[in-house]
Amino acid sequence: MSFRLQPQPPARPNRCQLFGPGSNTKLFAKMAASDADVINLDLEDSVAPSDKAQARANVIAAIAEHDWGNKTLSVRINGLDTPYWYRDVVDLLEQSDERLDQIMIPKVGCAEDVYAVDALVTAIESATGRGKTIAFEVIIESAAGLAHVAEIAAASPRLQAMSLGAADFAASMGMQTTGIGGTQENYYMLHDGTRHYSDPWHWAQTAIVAACRTHGLLPVDGPFGDFSDDEGYIAQARRSATLGMVGKWAIHPKQIALANQVFTPSKEAVMEAREILAAMEAAKEAGEGATVYKGRLVDIASIKQAEVIVTQAEMIAAG
Ligand code: COA
Ligand code: MG
Repeated sequence: MSFRLQPQPPARPNRCQLFGPGSNTKLFAKMAASDADVINLDLEDSVAPSDKAQARANVIAAIAEHDWGNKTLSVRINGLDTPYWYRDVVDLLEQSDERLDQIMIPKVGCAEDVYAVDALVTAIESATGRGKTIAFEVIIESAAGLAHVAEIAAASPRLQAMSLGAADFAASMGMQTTGIGGTQENYYMLHDGTRHYSDPWHWAQTAIVAACRTHGLLPVDGPFGDFSDDEGYIAQARRSATLGMVGKWAIHPKQIALANQVFTPSKEAVMEAREILAAMEAAKEAGEGATVYKGRLVDIASIKQAEVIVTQAEMIAAG
């Protein structure tokens, strides 16, 4: 056991991140009124090159014009391999209302990518006297991003969250996939002639969760493209939650309730976690480190597992 205690991630709900293109102004009011915990106004891949400047202006205006409630308000800038990103950062930081909470940096491949944006943001905050320190969220969506995931997670104290971007990641890895996230047709084991589907995102997700937990960030699952497939979305979200992710993106409003449902611990789960904590408290008083709950072993590690569920439920109830 390391003597270094694992840092806590930011104590805010992050069950669903709703995306909308910065070029589509009619969506902004609907996004603001939604039940998503996080809003990602997009300047990157959902905006055509000819619309980049207009989208930037739209987003800057929208930050001030709409009532975003207590949502985390984030803008996805363009990647560092484009001619757009520096102007995204400069205009956002110089012109936007202080309601802006976070910048999302896509396609991060190394810690220096985060450092570069941090240097620019720090200079503008200092020059303009912005009161609120802008947080960062990064997307791991390339081979380099995953290869360097631990150093990226440690790259800046501004970092609060990290998402897996399945589509760009699959393309960068050369994976033969088509759908954005979820089950892939050719990823199966064959047993007695029956196909058993496996999860091609598992390793990337686990690597992201480990990097995030080591450095106190929120690990988040990215998009699920087929917004007609509720069952597929729920299955993917449940796997992500089981692996330790705290939320998932929505690219259509019908996915918000699905994410909130999966990433809010159920009443039964919270009740069971509280009962385990009570059983362990009683064991401790009896001088025992382990006891039996509903015919199962519970011990000191069970306290930590139960606390994850109770803490999550309390934070959501408070938010
Ligand atoms: N946020 C809030 N509201 C949205 C929305 C979003 N992202 N996407 C659609 N809506 C609204 C529509 O305006 C419509 O509202 P109405 O009933 O008042 O007319 C309603 O939800 C139903 O929309 P629907 O007709 O099913 O979808 P669409 O064809 O208008 O849009 C998409 C489909 C995929 C183009 C759109 O959802 C979208 O742009 N999603 C975000 C894409 C994105 O940001 N990608 C980057 C991250 S991967
Ligand atoms: Mg992407």
